[in-house]
Amino acid sequence: MSTNKQKIEELLELRKLTKLGGGEKRIEAQHKKGKLTARERIELLVDEGSFEEFDMFVSHRATDFGLENELYYTDGVVTGHGTIEGRQVYVFSQDFTIFGGSLSEMYAGKICKIMDMAMKNGAPVIGINDSGGARIQEGVLSLAGYADIFQRNIMASGVIPQISAIFGPCAGGAVYSPALTDFNIMTANTSYMFVTGPKVVKSVTGEDVTVENLGGSSVHSTKSGVAHFVAPNEHEGILLIRKLMGYLPQNNLEDAPVIPTNDPIDRMEDILNEIIPDNPNKPYDVKDVIHAIVDDGDLLEVQPAYAPNIITAFARFNGQSVGIIANQPKFLAGVLDCNSSRKAARFVRFCDAFNIPILTLVDVPGFLPGTAQEYGGIIIHGAKLLFAYGEATVPKVTVILRKAYGGAYDVMSSKHLRGDLNYAWPMAEIAVMGAKGAVEVLNGTEISKIKDEKAKAEFIATKEEEYREKFANPYVAAKYGYIDDIIEPRNTRYRVINAFQALATKKVQNPPKKHSNIPL
Ligand code: HXC
Repeated sequence: MSTNKQKIEELLELRKLTKLGGGEKRIEAQHKKGKLTARERIELLVDEGSFEEFDMFVSHRATDFGLENELYYTDGVVTGHGTIEGRQVYVFSQDFTIFGGSLSEMYAGKICKIMDMAMKNGAPVIGINDSGGARIQEGVLSLAGYADIFQRNIMASGVIPQISAIFGPCAGGAVYSPALTDFNIMTANTSYMFVTGPKVVKSVTGEDVTVENLGGSSVHSTKSGVAHFVAPNEHEGILLIRKLMGYLPQNNLEDAPVIPTNDPIDRMEDILNEIIPDNPNKPYDVKDVIHAIVDDGDLLEVQPAYAPNIITAFARFNGQSVGIIANQPKFLAGVLDCNSSRKAARFVRFCDAFNIPILTLVDVPGFLPGTAQEYGGIIIHGAKLLFAYGEATVPKVTVILRKAYGGAYDVMSSKHLRGDLNYAWPMAEIAVMGAKGAVEVLNGTEISKIKDEKAKAEFIATKEEEYREKFANPYVAAKYGYIDDIIEPRNTRYRVINAFQALATKKVQNPPKKHSNIPL
């Protein structure tokens, strides 16, 4: 019979063994691919020494395909909790060195357990994905395990932040857990996500495609919008998760942490008085405006390479976390199209779900016209953004920098969609459309009657000027109270901070309902 001392030694020995996952050879193979192990990732992610592991001694109970002789502690996923900057998070990290990180019944149970704990304790869940998908030998038990996780992802949505890192393969139905979470972070070159791999694609559609071109980070960060962030490597990816966490509350009943700043709240930025070109058709970079007004010029852009005609970013004003949505005149003149509408709508809804106030910077010439957009459903996608803004109850501050034309004026957090404080710069143009289009519509018949080209051009120029004088300014909207104040651009930081302070106690509730029916 073992002595107590021997029993303790045995435990320590087992713990050591467990840390080796699928064995040194497989760890080496993992490193050779430029990937860290499941445990190395967790160590980097959480505060030093804070990780407490659960279910280290779980193993599968499959008996088919000789699996009964192939048992590994953890069963291929490391789960537990730790802290990030002292705040509790629940973590699972898939271990590719054990059965290729494939998901079994017991493995799914471990993930479900920490998700349940996270919900009970109101703390975020961070999942690190690196897996060959469903454990083939376990059949439907593995499919059931995925669905158990999906159901928890859905119940946790809007209650606790859920973040997914994709640091290796993520294929088949397995992609749907990250897709249900709030943010996906992929690594360049070492991660991929797809519903069916290149071989199946070839057999079904005849299409030849590489893994990277089908589901690599470049695809998901630019074309599909599945990835919110791409990191050059896992270290950077993990740092990014830690940074992202700093902007988020622990759950939907709390506020994001306030990070004290030495950046003066009344910092004037003279450059902003000059930033809008005199020619309304000339672009500028709205990111310069954002950098100039936020604390320490620091922001975290979400989906930076997807639909760059709209910017979605987290930043802070006097230490308070704020979600910024800004039309970007540098790309497609900042127009709203299908992708930018979807991108911004999801971001607005995330902020609203987690009590993060919203700042909207408007410079939008309208919705993108054309068959591609209409066939793509711009009506539905534009409605998503409209719906998201109108439904949001967090403090909403809007600054119209330049153009706010047509329906896009309404959509971009206007007063009419319960914008709380709506400001405009003096160069703002709030109108049904731009001067050129308006004159073509209003004076088309007269213009067609003028035969002399020079006279025609002069007539158009005079009419455009008349239109601009009358409508292309913020004063008409201000006259009706749709704009609360016209502000000096260089003073924007101070006015925005003041606005959010004034709105700190805002309480608005939507009518009780089962849930809304946002146009999906
Ligand atoms: C069991 C698996 C596995 C799986 C990998 N392994 N995937 N074991 N079930 N799904 C094992 C391998 O047998 C191998 O074991 C080890 O993991 C490493 O795999 P390799 O193939 O050697 O690694 P690599 O060459 O890097 O290739 C990785 C891979 C490949 C591309 C992920 O393993 C692969 O294609 N796996 C199958 C992927 C798949 O089709 N999964 C089902 C998807 S559908 P040893 O002992 O040699 O180390 C799905 C449905 C989910 O997941 C539905 C949810 C609703």
